[in-house]
Amino acid sequence: MLDAQTAPAAPHVTRREDYAPPVWLVPTIDLVFDLDPARTSVSATMQVELKEGAGGPLRLDGGGGLRPLTVAVDGQPAEWRMEGDQLVLDLAGRAHEVAIAVEIAPEANTQLMGLYASGGLLCTQCEAEGFRRIMFFPDRPDVLSRYTVRMTADKARFPVLLANGDHVGGGDLDDGRHWAQWRDPFPKPCYLFALVAGDLACRADQFITRSGRTVALGIYTAQSDLPKTEHAMAALKASMAWDEQVYGREYDLAVFNIVAVGDFNFGAMENKGLNIFNSRYILADPDTATDADYDAVAGVVAHEYFHNWSGNRVTCRDWFQLSLKEGFTVFRDQQFSADQGSHAVKRIEDVRALRAAQFPEDAGPLAHPIRPESYLEIGNFYTATVYNKGAEVIRMLHTLLGAERFRKGTDLYFTRHDGTATTCDAFVDAMEDASGEDLSRFRLWYSQAGTPRVKASLVHETGGGRARLTLEQSVPATPGQRDKQPMVLPLRLALFSAETGKRLAAQMVVMQDAREEIVFEGVSERPILSINRDFSAPVIVETDRSPADLAFLSAHDDDPFARYEAVQQLMLDTLVAGAARGEADHRPVIAAVRDTLADAHLDPAFVAETMLIPTESFVGDQMLVVDPEAIRRTRDALRRDLGRELLEQWRAIYAANHSNRFEYNPTAKGMRRLKTIALGFLAVGGAEDAAALAFGQFNDADNMTDRQGALGVLANGTAPERETALAAFYDRYRGDSLVLDKWFTTQALSMRADTPEQVERLARHPDFTLTNPNRLRSLVGAFTANQYAFHDPSGRGYRFLADMVLAADRLNPQTAAKLIPPLGRWRRLEPTRAALMKAELERMLATPGLSKDVFEQVSKSLA
Ligand code: TRP
Ligand code: ZN
Repeated sequence: MLDAQTAPAAPHVTRREDYAPPVWLVPTIDLVFDLDPARTSVSATMQVELKEGAGGPLRLDGGGGLRPLTVAVDGQPAEWRMEGDQLVLDLAGRAHEVAIAVEIAPEANTQLMGLYASGGLLCTQCEAEGFRRIMFFPDRPDVLSRYTVRMTADKARFPVLLANGDHVGGGDLDDGRHWAQWRDPFPKPCYLFALVAGDLACRADQFITRSGRTVALGIYTAQSDLPKTEHAMAALKASMAWDEQVYGREYDLAVFNIVAVGDFNFGAMENKGLNIFNSRYILADPDTATDADYDAVAGVVAHEYFHNWSGNRVTCRDWFQLSLKEGFTVFRDQQFSADQGSHAVKRIEDVRALRAAQFPEDAGPLAHPIRPESYLEIGNFYTATVYNKGAEVIRMLHTLLGAERFRKGTDLYFTRHDGTATTCDAFVDAMEDASGEDLSRFRLWYSQAGTPRVKASLVHETGGGRARLTLEQSVPATPGQRDKQPMVLPLRLALFSAETGKRLAAQMVVMQDAREEIVFEGVSERPILSINRDFSAPVIVETDRSPADLAFLSAHDDDPFARYEAVQQLMLDTLVAGAARGEADHRPVIAAVRDTLADAHLDPAFVAETMLIPTESFVGDQMLVVDPEAIRRTRDALRRDLGRELLEQWRAIYAANHSNRFEYNPTAKGMRRLKTIALGFLAVGGAEDAAALAFGQFNDADNMTDRQGALGVLANGTAPERETALAAFYDRYRGDSLVLDKWFTTQALSMRADTPEQVERLARHPDFTLTNPNRLRSLVGAFTANQYAFHDPSGRGYRFLADMVLAADRLNPQTAAKLIPPLGRWRRLEPTRAALMKAELERMLATPGLSKDVFEQVSKSLA
């Protein structure tokens, strides 16, 4: 649809401080859909009630060019007017019945917000403000209604008709059409409304809740994809059991359905009783999904399921409170996934994701607190900050209060606010009231943006047998926030003897002030500091620990995260030094890696995590001015040395972890991961048979992890096997769009010098399309994550991105806008690149007809 809301001269800014409760409530709404991809008619009958003590006209939001066909009040045609996109009615009394009819065109809806068509089916996406593209309504999360939905559609094309809640009726009509009616007993905001119509097959199962109720579970996909839903179903049942055990939360309807769709702006959506998923987070089998995909499927299934309580039963008062449901729910899905496998590995993965996505956001022009103060387009605030930093904030509450008091807090929160729309403050209030803890300073985490920095220095006073730890914190300035107050930081600490490796002390310090000193008594041996263990606070820690001390911790720390962190810090320091000076001493890293590889007690998945060299982007994040070439050079040199010096170890690791039969369990997953990392080191270390080994792994693999892993290694190099493997992969999977996404991504992430050119060529490939968000991200999103290629000194990477954003914006503003942040990093690059990046942002800004989504991201990136 070419009706993308274009940015007016002065786009409307929505501010948190302007919140006012709704004037009119809508206790019930009955919707009737006559479904057709080209022309769907929708009518709604709503009971509306003036809130006590309030007055004024009824304002109903519309969007996407929605026009009313008929408007009736209490059964009579009524006077109405449009004010912008709002339908305004002056009503005489305090309670009325309002009936409105509209017509929409799902197949012309390229924004994928509202009712749209995807691969022959019709589905909805209403969060955050999509419902207004279906029906005029007070589209705000604090208006809760009971819904009934009646759908009619062609029975042959749309044999399955689903909506929220329970199926309460249906049947055939005479003209080849049929109908179904659904009723959702729970009042909900309109962003949780959903319907699906299509030719879908169902994997049916059931779950018995702890109070003995039977819930019918269904996962709907195309018939041919049904075998790939087994893992998602297992994850759903595990999530339901877990939420009962850990949070005491039971499912509340007799039906829980999930539908997988191919075109989707996000990961998935928690619509009440009818979750709709991006198919990449449902479909998995060994031939097409990697181990990481399996984990993501389970994590997202759990996430959306957990929203039934944290999001649906208790929802958000306004969109500034988004982290109330998202931060909490991400924390819950992280806990769930940790409980299914290794806590240490899960924590490492979550921290890596936070550092890769959220830290840069917090350090750039788009930085915002987890509870933002204002927005032009709320779609731009579904960010790593709101989600992942939001989860870290909830995790800190868990750490500060302990599991038991935290659970008391969540129980109180759920009872207090069940069936209502509430705020982040109310969540913290519940934690305070349940625990008796004063959390007033802690609330700064909701209002202050920017990643705090902690400087730690440890002085050993040999004479007094004392160790003195000085901690200093600072929070950097962010847009609109110059001066910051010190934050509450739970920091887990320990001291280890440099002589024996014995732990000398361990404690959690709750830092509150800008500067604090902690004294450890009775420390006679030289202590080494272990700090922010298990990443207890989402901060950047600077210490004065030597490479030797880090290497020592990498072997002796008893907190697995800290052990991982010691190796990573050692690698990072080495890379930063190398990028700055052109060379660095690689020996401490090589020694630490050698020792870790030799430790037979370690979990292979943990070893694999530890062996991953910090990414080029993460090294760039540590530098005042990012130098992509110097970073590439120094990182290549470290990889090469690690490969060469430990060639025999990598060979042994490869052999020991290579198995020919696919198994799905944490150990087998860890072994696959470690094996392909070893393969990568063999390739950069100059093993003559590396390409043959990779090609062999590619050909013989009985699973996607091994196949894509080998392809990734080959894609970085120049061996003739590279082209053969890429072509074979394409031929094998040309009909599977999720796997083709991997084919695009693997090439976009290649470390070869010709990557910018290859990516431009791939954008002209017949399988590339701007209309499918997964495909767009698989090529363009992946390319921008490839620091060296994206920052090609010619500026062609920047031009490519801007061209793609402008083209995508005409179809799908929300997805287009999400690609912009990498260009906003221009201040961190040397002047020539910075000017090229800025010029592309300015070119975008000057383009007529920009959506407000893209306008907001581009204008903020230039500010
Ligand atoms: N609430 C969804 C989630 O967490 C997010 C989401 C799904 C979304 N679809 C969207 C957000 C479209 C914005 C637009 O998991
Ligand atoms: Zn969510």
